[in-house]
Amino acid sequence: MRASEVVQGLIKKPLKTKQKKATCFAPTNIALIKYWGKRQLELNLPVTGSLSVTLPNKGTTTTLNINDKDHDSVTLNGKTLTRDDKFSKRLSTFLDLFRGQQKIFFDIDTNNNIPTAAGLASSASGFAAIVMALNELFEWRLNDKALSILARMGSGSACRSFWPGFVEWQGGKQDDGLDSFAKPVEDKWPYLCLGLLIFEAGEKLHSSTQAMLNCAKTSPSFKQWPTQHANDLKEFKKALHEKNFTLLGEVTECNAQAMHQTIIDSRPSINYSTQETTRLKEKVWQLRKEGIPVYFTQDAGPNLKLIFEKSSQSIIEEHFPSVEVIEAFI
Ligand code: DP6
Repeated sequence: MRASEVVQGLIKKPLKTKQKKATCFAPTNIALIKYWGKRQLELNLPVTGSLSVTLPNKGTTTTLNINDKDHDSVTLNGKTLTRDDKFSKRLSTFLDLFRGQQKIFFDIDTNNNIPTAAGLASSASGFAAIVMALNELFEWRLNDKALSILARMGSGSACRSFWPGFVEWQGGKQDDGLDSFAKPVEDKWPYLCLGLLIFEAGEKLHSSTQAMLNCAKTSPSFKQWPTQHANDLKEFKKALHEKNFTLLGEVTECNAQAMHQTIIDSRPSINYSTQETTRLKEKVWQLRKEGIPVYFTQDAGPNLKLIFEKSSQSIIEEHFPSVEVIEAFI
């Protein structure tokens, strides 16, 4: 099924509005059990489910303003992009799914308070914010499930950016992807902290989309990924129910490491880690040996996110002076 058919099936009406503009904020999310690999590219249908935690107040604010031009115009973090810019094209292609043959174009002003495209899931908050803004502008009053499905077609991880706390994306089985959307998880973890260690704010060399496709096609270890992943997800949920932080940290870190191993095993190999990534991982392992309960996760970039509980915050800040600590449940 084509993405445009799924979109039209969900929104059901042509784009019509009395207002000209809408602004929405969506938070970003960090996958603790990763989405890596697609069973269908156009709809961003994943090979497995995934589970994330939302970073409150970190994300994207997007304003959509209907313009009088014959094209969209994108401003990203205060800078107007050219029409052939990669990001501009990605947004316009996404908006094409909604406007079909209608000649409605937008000035899109999008601002991230996290580094754009540095493996910090700004595409997640970006596509969630644009879907929220469309929903508001055209007064569709769609439910969360429909918003999640629509955002997923912009970027898979965006389907998890509609709720605070832990969120699970059920991969689904259907070809139309109408069973592939995210939902909030009931369990909370009041003192869970994420520590952002951002030492590379530039754009990543390999987009996650490209790396995922290459990995699924060529990486021998990708064959084991769905099985390991199912097990990790089960263990993660057990850790949540039992409030077992050691298990939660271990399974989160192992899942990220396994994802990166499958990426390294691709041909050509891709390694998102730099020397600094490796140094910081080793530091985390050393601290654990010294009895400090801290773990990490890593997405499609070199930066790390530490996972620890509030009781360890001051010691973590001592060892990682540049860390930005975010409480996930506030
Ligand atoms: C490593 O959602 O950016 O962050 O669907 O191709 O846009 P596309 O990929 P994207 O991939 C995210 C990959 C990840 C893991 C995760 O967020 O689950």
